[in-house]
Amino acid sequence: MEPVLELRNVTKSFGGLRVTADVSFSVAPGSISAIIGPNGAGKTTLFNQITGYLKPDGGKILFQGKDITNLSTREIVTLGMARAFQVTSFFPEETVLDNVRVACLSQMNKTRNLLKSVSVFNEATDQAFKILESIGLQNVADRAGFELAHGDQKLLDIGIALALQPKALLLDEPTSGMSPEERLLTRNLIKRLWKEFSLTLIFIEHDMDTVFGIAQTVRVLQMGRLLAEGSPEEIRRNPEVITAYLGEEVL
Ligand SMILES: Nc1ncnc2c1ncn2[C@@H]1O[C@H](COP(=O)(O)OP(=O)(O)O)[C@@H](O)[C@H]1O
Ligand SMILES: [Mg+2]
Repeated sequence: MEPVLELRNVTKSFGGLRVTADVSFSVAPGSISAIIGPNGAGKTTLFNQITGYLKPDGGKILFQGKDITNLSTREIVTLGMARAFQVTSFFPEETVLDNVRVACLSQMNKTRNLLKSVSVFNEATDQAFKILESIGLQNVADRAGFELAHGDQKLLDIGIALALQPKALLLDEPTSGMSPEERLLTRNLIKRLWKEFSLTLIFIEHDMDTVFGIAQTVRVLQMGRLLAEGSPEEIRRNPEVITAYLGEEVL
């Protein structure tokens, strides 16, 4: 099967520092996979390049067989790739519903001329409510984004990304800052969304229960380099990964 996403020797430096060093991997369509590695390993920078926020200095990125290396973020979103950020990025003063509804409208706007239509607004509202139900935020639909608990704010960002009807969804540390209970709920939620929306899902994560609990494939970045790639079992047992990142406790 053709990979949905393919990186070929992706390289990026800031000043003299190589933040992404010749990273190559292929992501199978419909898969769920994790990227792990120490702080500063280049995980977010890699996402920034995949989603067009940064241009690689060298290498190629293909999405569904198409070269997206030099496309804008907007063009990449239009092709079907959405992302939730390590730091949440919704409109804090707007309601939860409006945040998701605006994203639904913008997605609908790509395919239709909306300007005149009230029914389109209603359709966007319905879609937004469906998404809020999927992520469990339907009861706080009328609250302003900033009023939500931290964990719910992270979920709202995922909801906004889902409104773009992506084929591929990238999540940067979806459980960061959450309590253990919230992390467990979010882990189950991510797995459910992956199935419900038939996504190819790639997430960056430090919580190893989440990584080893739901990822089919784990990729390890260290100092910008792809140190290892494999099944959760292979990664857990990989001596280089244990030395560089995992330590002994996860064994
Ligand atoms: N815009 C930037 N300009 C300069 N250095 C950056 C920039 N963004 C990230 N870096 C550096 O790149 C390295 C990798 O950062 P990052 O991708 O955020 O790591 P991770 O997400 O794995 O913790 C860090 O050393 C960071 O300081
Ligand atoms: Mg990061």
